[in-house]
Amino acid sequence: MTTIDIRTTVREQYGSMARAGTSCCGPATNGCCAPAADPTALASAIGYDAAELARILPQGANLGLSCGNPGAIAALQPGETVLDLGSGAGFDAFLCGPKVGAAGRVIGVDMTPDMLARARGNIAGYTARTGLANVEFRMGEIEHLPVADASIDVVISNCVINLSPDKPQVWREIARVLKPGGRVAVSDMVLLQPLPEAVRGAVEAYIGCIAGASLITELRSMLREAGLVQVELLPKPAYVTTLSGNDDPLYQQVRAGLAGAEPADYVTSMDIAARKPAAGGAPGCCGEPGGSSRPA
Ligand SMILES: C[S@@+](CC[C@H](N)C(=O)[O-])C[C@H]1O[C@@H](n2cnc3c(N)ncnc32)[C@H](O)[C@@H]1O
Repeated sequence: MTTIDIRTTVREQYGSMARAGTSCCGPATNGCCAPAADPTALASAIGYDAAELARILPQGANLGLSCGNPGAIAALQPGETVLDLGSGAGFDAFLCGPKVGAAGRVIGVDMTPDMLARARGNIAGYTARTGLANVEFRMGEIEHLPVADASIDVVISNCVINLSPDKPQVWREIARVLKPGGRVAVSDMVLLQPLPEAVRGAVEAYIGCIAGASLITELRSMLREAGLVQVELLPKPAYVTTLSGNDDPLYQQVRAGLAGAEPADYVTSMDIAARKPAAGGAPGCCGEPGGSSRPA
């Protein structure tokens, strides 16, 4: 698929999920990215607190599209500004809102109009539950963020960067928008070894956050080339083994293309933490250059 094909297909598929209020394949089946039948159970399985979800999230903000829990590694502080790449229906953005409080803010960015409409429609419910008006959603591509240079304390993202046709550009943009010393707290799918062509070429596997995933070695290079430092990559295999064990239709299809191997032999969810070097601090720290800059 070309870059344009990828964007169009991703936008169409996630648009229909947003309209249906469920993940890829419709409410009668398991989803491509998660068991659509019970997004709360999936969230609990990947480390979310069910009571916190019930207290904060408006109905329909959790579509079961996540593969990790970036807020759990973000160590958010009151007053911080958080940017959520590919914010979907607002799941993590809303959960981060109370952590940064009234003095902080959360900006979600998504390129799919129907997803954005769903997220924006959820804001009133979030405010009614929390008394906060600190979350907003912007239309945009994560390769061209609609956010000023050096304005963000923490970039989070949940199961999105694998879908980008230009991942090095996404990491350069993350470095551009972070303040000096700012943090990355991302969950995403990552490859442990190259996928066979039968899986790599399957559109369902791309939309399902597998076929577009980067190898760990490629991921490290992209972060380094973007100027990010203190990179920590932590595999979280439970997500893939849970979906494989649940006989998720996508994972069954992937398994059929793996010649007897298991999906978990090839792909894992991963916590990705990093920092933009602090201004003036430890110049050339760790041999890493600073982030690139672009006018706001
Ligand atoms: C798997 S869903 C994850 C949604 C959300 N992070 C969650 O955990 O519920 C991927 C989301 O990323 C968005 N997306 C995919 N590629 C994107 C891109 N290049 N730029 C902006 N948004 C993108 C999709 O529209 C979709 O809402």
